[in-house]
This record gives sequence, C-alpha cells and structure tokens, in this order.
Amino acid sequence: MTSPMTSAAHDEPWEEPLDPTARGVPGDGRRAARWLPRLLPRGTDVPEDLRAHVARYGGPPYRGAAQLLVGDVRAAGLTGRGGAAFPVHRKLAAVLDAARRSRYSRPVVVANGAESEPASEKDATLLWLAPHLVLDGLQLAAEAVGADQAILCVHAHRGGDVGIALRRALAERDGAQIDKVPVELAEAPPRFLAGQETALVNRLGGGPALPTFVPPRVTERGLGNAPTLVQNVETLAHLALIARYGPRWFRAAGTELEPGSMLCTLRRADGVSRITEVPLGTPLCDLLGGRDVEGTVLVGGYHGTWIPAGKAAALTLDSQSLRGAGASPGAGILITLPPTACGLAETARVARYLALESAGQCGPCLNGLPRIAGALDELAGPRPRRRTVEDVQRWAGLVTGRGACHHPDGTARFVRSALIAFAGELGLHERGRCSATSRKWFLPVPADPARTEEDWM
Ligand SMILES: Cc1cc2nc3c(=O)[nH]c(=O)nc-3n(C[C@H](O)[C@H](O)[C@H](O)COP(=O)(O)O)c2cc1C
Ligand code: SF4
Repeated sequence: MTSPMTSAAHDEPWEEPLDPTARGVPGDGRRAARWLPRLLPRGTDVPEDLRAHVARYGGPPYRGAAQLLVGDVRAAGLTGRGGAAFPVHRKLAAVLDAARRSRYSRPVVVANGAESEPASEKDATLLWLAPHLVLDGLQLAAEAVGADQAILCVHAHRGGDVGIALRRALAERDGAQIDKVPVELAEAPPRFLAGQETALVNRLGGGPALPTFVPPRVTERGLGNAPTLVQNVETLAHLALIARYGPRWFRAAGTELEPGSMLCTLRRADGVSRITEVPLGTPLCDLLGGRDVEGTVLVGGYHGTWIPAGKAAALTLDSQSLRGAGASPGAGILITLPPTACGLAETARVARYLALESAGQCGPCLNGLPRIAGALDELAGPRPRRRTVEDVQRWAGLVTGRGACHHPDGTARFVRSALIAFAGELGLHERGRCSATSRKWFLPVPADPARTEEDWM
C-alpha cells in the first residue's frame, strides 16, 4: 500500500514545547500533545493503528451528553481548516439550535475529506497517517450535537489506499467498540466543487455534487432535511485534541486572534512538495525558504492570491496579516512558481479548469467565468489587446458575490491577483515576448474536465 504523499513528504520542523504547564491526560499522550506536530505522527509513512493511537492519546474523551464540548471549543477559538476559517462553536450551536426546533430528525455529522482543491494534499495525508484522530473528532462532534449518524467523505481518486486504511481503522474501532455513532464511509467525485458543503450534502443525498442556494443552511436543513454539521477532517482532528487537552493547551500555539496550528501543503519551485504543521502566525519566510526568496507565491490555492515572494516573505500565516495583501490562509496551500514558468499561462490554465468545473448553474459561472478564462488565454499569448485586461477586471467585479456559492468570488480573486502580480509579464506579452523557459506545466490541474451530469456523481 502506498501513502498519498507519493510526491510529498511530511515533516516536523517546529519541535518546541508549546506549554509545559498545560494540563492533559496522563501518560505518553500529554507529553506528545505538547509538541508540534500535534496531528501527524512523527517519522513514519504508515497509518497509526488504534493501539498506537490510544497509547499516544488515550480513548476519545466523551462528555456523556450533547452540548458539553461546545464551551471548550469556543474557548479554544477553533476555526474551520477547510478554507473559510469559520468559528466551529458557532456551527455546533447552530446545529444544536436547529435540532431543538426540529422535532423529527436527529442531526447528522459529515467529516469533509473531499479535498477537492487539486493543489492540496494535507487532508489525504492526515487521513492516511492519523485516521483515528479524525474518527475521534467525528465521534466527539457527533456527541456534541446529539447526532445519531456520521459520515466520512473522501476524495474518490485519492481515496484508493486512504479508503482501504480508513476501512481498516473503522474495523479496528468496531472491534474495540469505542464508537458511539455508526460511521459510513463515502466518496466525493473528483470535482473542484465537490467539497463545497451544500454540494457534498447534495451528493450524499443521492444527487450530483453541485452546490445549492442557501438559505436554508445545511446546519438548519441538510442531509435528509436533518440539521447537518459539515466540518473539514483537519478541524475534527483539532477538536479531538481540544476535547483531551483543553482550550489553554490549544491556544499555546498560534496567535491570540487565530489560535492553534494548521496543516499546510507547501509546493516549492523545484517541484518538491511537503505537508507540514505550523502554528498560525508563522512567518511565511520560514515556510518559503528565507527572506530573500524570489518569484511569485500563490497563497491559499486556486481561490487564493498571487503575491510577489518578497512581499509574501514579510507576512505571517494568519488572516490578519494576509488580509492586507488581499489574501487568506485558506486551506493552507503555498506554492512558489518557478522562474521558468509563465505566471499568466499558468493562471489561464487554472482559470479554464475552474470555469469548466462550475457546471454553469448560475449567471456568473455560466457567462462570466468562461469569458474570463477566454480573455486570460489571450493575455497568456503573444500581443494581447490592451483592453482585454480591463475586460477581465470588469468581469471579475461583475461575477463577485453573485453566485449560489463562493466559486466565482474565489476565481475572481485568483485572476485579479494574477493581473497585478504578473504585470511585468503582461508587458512582455504585449511586446510579443514571454519569460517562460520551460514548456512543462507547474500547477497541478486534473486532466478530465466535467462534461455531463454523470461526472458530478
Ligand atoms: C468551491 C469550494 C470548494 C470547497 N472544497 C472543500 C473541500 O474540498 N474540503 C473542505 O473541507 N471544505 C471545502 N470547502 C469549504 C466547505 O464548503 C465548508 O465550508 C467546510 O467543509 C466546512 O468545514 P470547516 O468549517 O471545518 O472548514 C469548499 C468551499 C468552496 C466554496
Ligand atoms: S456560483 Fe457557480 S459554482 Fe456556485 S453553484 Fe452557481 S454555478 Fe455552481
């Protein structure tokens, strides 16, 4: 069996005690959990089995009733690690509140391991190496909202070996009878939108993995009309540790406003990629390889922002710092573009992919994204017309905030940032030149665009 990180490695560069006075469970678990990495086991490429997991952390610390974990999650300041950094305690409270009002259905909890962003590998890595931490988090979240059904959804194509490892982990838990709620393993199709929460719920309900309009939010009426909690798998792993070691321990890493650590997928210009876990607030220069790093960095993946590397190196990995550059940590993707690649051509190729992935359900995706992608193709070629840049900027403004989901907004942010970051390259193209010296594409883009509704199933 192979790890999902065939081209990546995971490491632990921040081995420092986080809070020597933090209270935790007795035994090895307390010692291990004071250090980073918190989530990924060290020095191994094989999944941690239940025995090793329990030896490290103890069993899941059930509270015995719904709602009791919510206060700790609020005090910890845990936010979602799936991209939007939404406060987890507010979602837990919303589901509890909806369940109180809905007399017919108990809540459902969904662990989102769809990892639909092609540049990200952190969720597959976490699921592969520490499946029981995610499954503990799923059980504890289910207890916290009083759910009687839990689903773990993984990316269909990356799910092969991860899926086998997860089935084994679930069988181990079954044998040890440590789960309170039965867990179903499901697959999300390999589409960019499949991980969006309404798309995921749609798919789990038997429909295509396409977003639906809100309201109602899935917390109110989701799978089978039940109040549904959708959390990213990394978020659930953090929640499992907060339940064990408490909010103070969690806050020993990160910043006051954005506590804790996060998994990052780092893709360096030399093609090497790795998964690492770092405290929020980590200087980007530490992740990018120094202050004098050159070129351009994509922060936050394909809904993220291109930033000149010199400027990025002065920022830190948290929303507060990145906001000034029009960026956010997203799901922790950082990509340094090699000097041999053309940023405009790479952006045009990703924009085309994003336009094709939308399924064109709403105006901005039906009309706007294909036009933007077409205009970028022109900008990526020789001697584009001057007004094409203005067209892209205008269309990017028009699609923002107008869709059923944030896909057009994220795509517009990505494209606009490229126009700024690659303004020099644009000047070269206008003169019929290009700085690229390699014909090899750098940014990962799946080869098979969606064509029929079957592709979203
Ligand atoms: C286009 C799009 C794709 C998304 N893909 C994912 C994904 O693959 N995995 C994920 O956890 N969240 C994804 N999200 C975010 C989810 O909608 C949702 O906010 C998240 O799963 C909630 O979990 P969290 O609060 O723990 O982050 C996506 C959002 C959008 C707009
Ligand atoms: S905004 Fe775009 S991606 Fe989102 S639901 Fe509408 S058509 Fe689909």
